[in-house]
Amino acid sequence: MSRSVAFAIRSALLTANPREKVFATREVARSWRLGRLDYAFDVAMPDRPAWPEVPELLPPNRMPKRGKGGSERARIALWHALCHIEFVAIDLALDMAGRFGAEMGEGFVSDFLSVAADEAMHFALLERKLHSLGSFYGALPAHGGLWEAAEKTRHDVGARLAVVPMVLEARGLDVTPATLERVRAQGDEGGARILERILADEIRHVSTGTKHFTAWSARVAKSPEILWRELVTTHFTGAIKPPFNDSARSAAGLSLSYYGALAT
Ligand SMILES: [Fe+2]
Ligand SMILES: [Fe+2]
Repeated sequence: MSRSVAFAIRSALLTANPREKVFATREVARSWRLGRLDYAFDVAMPDRPAWPEVPELLPPNRMPKRGKGGSERARIALWHALCHIEFVAIDLALDMAGRFGAEMGEGFVSDFLSVAADEAMHFALLERKLHSLGSFYGALPAHGGLWEAAEKTRHDVGARLAVVPMVLEARGLDVTPATLERVRAQGDEGGARILERILADEIRHVSTGTKHFTAWSARVAKSPEILWRELVTTHFTGAIKPPFNDSARSAAGLSLSYYGALAT
């Protein structure tokens, strides 16, 4: 008798050490793909995943200013912030699959475990980048609010899909071109290639979220655009603000008919 997919996901969520979490996540995704885990949900997901002692997590308004331009310190701060986003993204994707997989089906689990494996890869790439700059993940404090969206939407898969892939990951698509430009201007071709790869994957993640959100809307017999606006207004306190990367968003199936009306 093999293990349940929920048990394996829960174990990865409860792994605090970043490298071990990366390993555990890729292992869950692989075992699932190879049919070695049962589609069974016999354990609940933790309210909070396990995280390492560093980085120290700070509320966004207490984060030190990153500094401008291409100074060594500013560059490390940028890559550190990106590394932290990917670290939390691993847990967000695992939690999506483990918490909502029972009601959403096996295809949903496959999709979000594959997202989790991508995030683990992104984290590993960025951690290596930090090492090449003489730093490491945990050397600086990090944004402590990134799990908030998961907490607020833990009872509602529609809300989770509306906020996590379709607002937060979509915002990643919006901000990446400017970051890419900055990194290129610093002559950092290696860094630019990492960002391009991540951007391509993130388009797929937004697309995965949008696909399952659309299917969910059909199940509850609502218009996806109207339901999305209701859920985002209820569960997301930030602003939906331009500049939007319209071409990346539309490549992900997130048309202006979703976010146009909420944009501030
Ligand atoms: Fe990512
Ligand atoms: Fe992602």
